[in-house]
Amino acid sequence: MPSKYLVVGNWKMHPATVDEAKVIAKKSRLIAGKLVRTEVVACPPFAFIPASVSRTQAENFSIGAQSVSGDEGGAHTGEVGAAMLKSLGVSYVIAGHSEQRAAGDTDEMISRRIGRALDAGLSVIACVGEKVREESGSHFAFIKEQIKNSLANVSEDKRSRIILAYEPVWAIGAQDAMAPEQIYEMSLFVKKAFADAFGPEAGLKVKVLYGGSVNFRNAADIIVRGKVDGLLVGRESVNMPGFSELLKAVDGIGTGQAQTA
Ligand code: 13P
Repeated sequence: MPSKYLVVGNWKMHPATVDEAKVIAKKSRLIAGKLVRTEVVACPPFAFIPASVSRTQAENFSIGAQSVSGDEGGAHTGEVGAAMLKSLGVSYVIAGHSEQRAAGDTDEMISRRIGRALDAGLSVIACVGEKVREESGSHFAFIKEQIKNSLANVSEDKRSRIILAYEPVWAIGAQDAMAPEQIYEMSLFVKKAFADAFGPEAGLKVKVLYGGSVNFRNAADIIVRGKVDGLLVGRESVNMPGFSELLKAVDGIGTGQAQTA
């Protein structure tokens, strides 16, 4: 069987209360347990991570964090370290999200965050994506630079714990996702840029996710026609039953039960 699809839910600054977070995490975990071809990662806000982690081993379900400090420990007010997250039961971190880039994160800062996460044994969902698309195709060079610079300090032995998420900034929080044909082009490009930085074998192995206005209607179509390994989902990941429908649609790909738009 080919490797499983990966669906990552980025809850952003939602929901409002820990009780709501518990419900979303529990529902996501229960659905994940019934999936055959799909792995689910829920990324709650830091404050809700302990309430979202299950005490029992959950099938196809892991917890991720939305960020991580670029420092190991010490006098860094407000920061949360990679080892702390690991000790809570976190397995993944998101780094380089465009909302953090907009708040001041540079490729250099992202590279430090990624370095600390990998050192602590976590897997990293490294986000890249252009703000705008121009006729000239300048977004290709832009994304290639983001990949090269934000992964600058990733050593060969830790490369396999990097997952790339292509999220065109203009498609985040929008009405429509990018067209699957364009997603296909970009997923190939992102893999090629990774191969250029880390060698052809690494390029073949790296998983690429698409993010930006994914919902239960378009999810399976994006994976099938966009030829990505999974999805990074914002709004729909805290919207039940939308997220459970999305997971079922992805898991149904190739079985004749996939829901496409
Ligand atoms: P939406 O799915 O809400 O567009 O958000 C995408 C995103 O930024 C996920 O990281």
